[in-house]
Amino acid sequence: MKINVTTGQIEKHKTDGAVLLLFDDEKPGQAAARVDKALGGMIGRLIKRGDFKAKPGAVHLLYPEGRIAAERLALAGLGKRADFTLNRLRQAAGKAAPVLRAAGAKDITVLIDGLGRDNEETGQAIAEGGMLGLYRFLKYKTNEENDRKKDVQKITLLTGTASTVKALRKGVQTGEVIAESAMMARDMVSSPPTDMTPTVIASQAREISRQFGLRLQVLERKQMAKLGMGALLGVASGSTQPPKFIIVEYRKGGKKPFIALVGKTITFDSGGISIKPAENMDKMKDDMSGGAAVLGAIRSAAALKLPLNIVGLLPATENMPSGSAYKPGDVLRTLSGQTIEILNTDAEGRLILSDALAYACTYKPAVIVDIATLTGACGIALGQEATGMLGTHDALKQKISEAGLKTGERVWELPLWEEYHEQIKSDIADMKNTGGRAGGVITAAALLSKFVQKYPWVHLDIAATAWTDKDRPYTPKGATGIGVRLLTQFLRDYQS
Ligand code: BES
Ligand code: MN
Ligand code: ZN
Repeated sequence: MKINVTTGQIEKHKTDGAVLLLFDDEKPGQAAARVDKALGGMIGRLIKRGDFKAKPGAVHLLYPEGRIAAERLALAGLGKRADFTLNRLRQAAGKAAPVLRAAGAKDITVLIDGLGRDNEETGQAIAEGGMLGLYRFLKYKTNEENDRKKDVQKITLLTGTASTVKALRKGVQTGEVIAESAMMARDMVSSPPTDMTPTVIASQAREISRQFGLRLQVLERKQMAKLGMGALLGVASGSTQPPKFIIVEYRKGGKKPFIALVGKTITFDSGGISIKPAENMDKMKDDMSGGAAVLGAIRSAAALKLPLNIVGLLPATENMPSGSAYKPGDVLRTLSGQTIEILNTDAEGRLILSDALAYACTYKPAVIVDIATLTGACGIALGQEATGMLGTHDALKQKISEAGLKTGERVWELPLWEEYHEQIKSDIADMKNTGGRAGGVITAAALLSKFVQKYPWVHLDIAATAWTDKDRPYTPKGATGIGVRLLTQFLRDYQS
């Protein structure tokens, strides 16, 4: 799909579908008012009668029938001006675009008129909202080609002000890069687990590395054993799929210290010997969402040429039951030297992360951010509207929090007080891998905190936000690609 920015008059602009963005508490802007006039005042009457309210997410489709050059016209609500955010704009674009596609539009034109926001940010938000809202995962549909015929080919941002074009274009380019990265993550997460093994993820990482000039290293079982990654190998021991420890480095930051991003990459979590119930086990293909987010963020950082040094670490394995699987009662020796008693083989994420976090420390990083579908408890605590955030460093948490607000991938902090460590004390090892039902998000993070030494660290629990069971404004149901935009924003704003 192409996204263009041009100047022109909306009423004369030929397009399959035009989008008018309207505030709830304002009269249409100049260009929109001209459209209304051409339509004989229809929009004004619809609003007056209450048939259309420009609430956030509201979309109403009209057929101008020759009175303006557009075949179809979608009115899209932005809510009240005072509450306006870039995320609302993203949502409006993300809602309107699929409505026009469903009606048959293959090229869409969005009128940029009187939004009152920075033009670059405006361009980015519309590109992201449009692309992410139009996303579909069709790879496994035998009539994919037929479905693809309905794809939107082109989105045009139309402005009446020539002086804004340059900034809008720059924003569009940024938005395209970030949306593509998020869609890559969605594709990876949506793929069936047997087709998205650690080996396949490693080769995808290789492909991205080739494309964007990253340095890639993939550690095999033998090398992991030599280093002493006993936790990752313990989890991998039940699977016939070889585990991979994937290291992606992006180096455009001169002598700056590395930013370490660590992503949980369990390509399928059956629970292992502590096997999960059958219901919803299929969803456990999403247990590599953290790894996908890290790959997506590094892809964006490289494409946007951010002046940073970043290392992405993806401990990748299946968690399977078998005769060779690790068992409850086992004690694993981690890369850091600390030992973990296994009470439940389904608490595997924290195990593979313990080795990856210890590995991250070897970079002497400026910060470590890990992202993981770690606990079902996170969904109990926060529902699907926020990612759980825990960490050791206030300024870092603040930065992540701000990135969450900007991107709409919001995070919410949970406490990580010393007292919680009591729950993961083991009688025979340095710690145990579960801390009981109470405060499950926190005790998981408490375990992780033992592997980050003194480095500023934040943990993001995306167990409930990596997948959505319902359509959201620019997130169709399925894999959300969460974390890509959040981490990319964090990196873009990062000042060392
Ligand atoms: N991958 C799961 C967490 C998860 C649950 C992700 C639901 C997405 C949706 C994780 O490995 C897990 O199984 N956690 C256990 C931990 C427990 C055994 C302490 C959980 O949350 O039940
Ligand atoms: Mn598990
Ligand atoms: Zn898991």
